[in-house]
Amino acid sequence: MAASALDKQRQEAIKRAIEQQKLIAEKMKNIKYKIVVLSGKGGVGKSFVTASLAMALAMKGKRVAVFDADIHGPSIPKMLGVHGKRMYALPDGRLLPVDGPLGVKVVSIDFLLESEEQAVIWRGPLKTAAIRELLAFTEWGDLDYLLVDLPPGTGDEQLTIAQLIPGLSGSIIVTIPSDVSRIVVKKAVTFAKRLNIPVIGIIENMAYFECPDGSRHYIFGKGAGRKIAEEMGVPFLGEIPIDPRISKANDEGKPFFVEYPDSKAAKAFLEIAEKIIKTVEGKTGGQESQQKS
Ligand SMILES: Nc1ncnc2c1ncn2[C@@H]1O[C@H](COP(=O)(O)OP(=O)(O)OP(=O)(O)O)[C@@H](O)[C@H]1O
Ligand SMILES: [Mg+2]
Repeated sequence: MAASALDKQRQEAIKRAIEQQKLIAEKMKNIKYKIVVLSGKGGVGKSFVTASLAMALAMKGKRVAVFDADIHGPSIPKMLGVHGKRMYALPDGRLLPVDGPLGVKVVSIDFLLESEEQAVIWRGPLKTAAIRELLAFTEWGDLDYLLVDLPPGTGDEQLTIAQLIPGLSGSIIVTIPSDVSRIVVKKAVTFAKRLNIPVIGIIENMAYFECPDGSRHYIFGKGAGRKIAEEMGVPFLGEIPIDPRISKANDEGKPFFVEYPDSKAAKAFLEIAEKIIKTVEGKTGGQESQQKS
């Protein structure tokens, strides 16, 4: 008796998951390109890169949203200056993203939590269910780009979350210049292969420090990111400098890209955004023309 009640519960959970997966696909139908941002290592600046790239793409005239899939440490809202806001729920249960800087739409579990500590106790299956639910009820509208900030790491948990998003266009790998970066990139490339999506390219964050006199100091060594990209046969997208204003802006909950549009970092993000557009949209154009011929 108890066993059959459990079976029934399990069957209902599976049915619900399948229905929600269909809803996710339906709700995401009008998003042209979906990109996951990865790193094989935590704390390399993945969330900062995701938030800044979203703003850079928006500056290029693209309609952009960010999905913060990091339940344990949802930092995207803070980096986009919308921490503390709430997603608006329509009477039929649909959720509207929060409007961030430059029109970037933001969806994060952070908007639904009562307190910052709440999600820390959630275990794997509960986290996946929460993310699936959030995706199933979000009304994205028409978008060019959806950037997904996954939780740190490239294990099964991250894979399960990434697999909830249908039709991924590719991945962007974030690394830092250090001895571990080779392992970081390798793990991320393997992850992308498991997802069956192309690697759009590698971004090296905290690559150098520029003094007020304009001299550049490659504190952790020069060119590691580019070299690893070559070794792994994936494109190198660019370097982001270390800038104390970045950590200050992030800590204060101000969007760095908007606060310091003339900084080297903001300019680097604009150049990288251009490369991403060329790669992703160029590829689609190619595929379409191949299909036509
Ligand atoms: N280029 C940079 N210059 C200075 N500080 C930076 C830079 N990039 C990121 N930071 C700071 O480093 C810290 C880590 O960045 P971030 O939270 O984006 O990393 P993450 O890879 O997403 O971390 P996690 O693994 O916890 O998700 C933050 O305090 C951020 O403000
Ligand atoms: Mg992060």
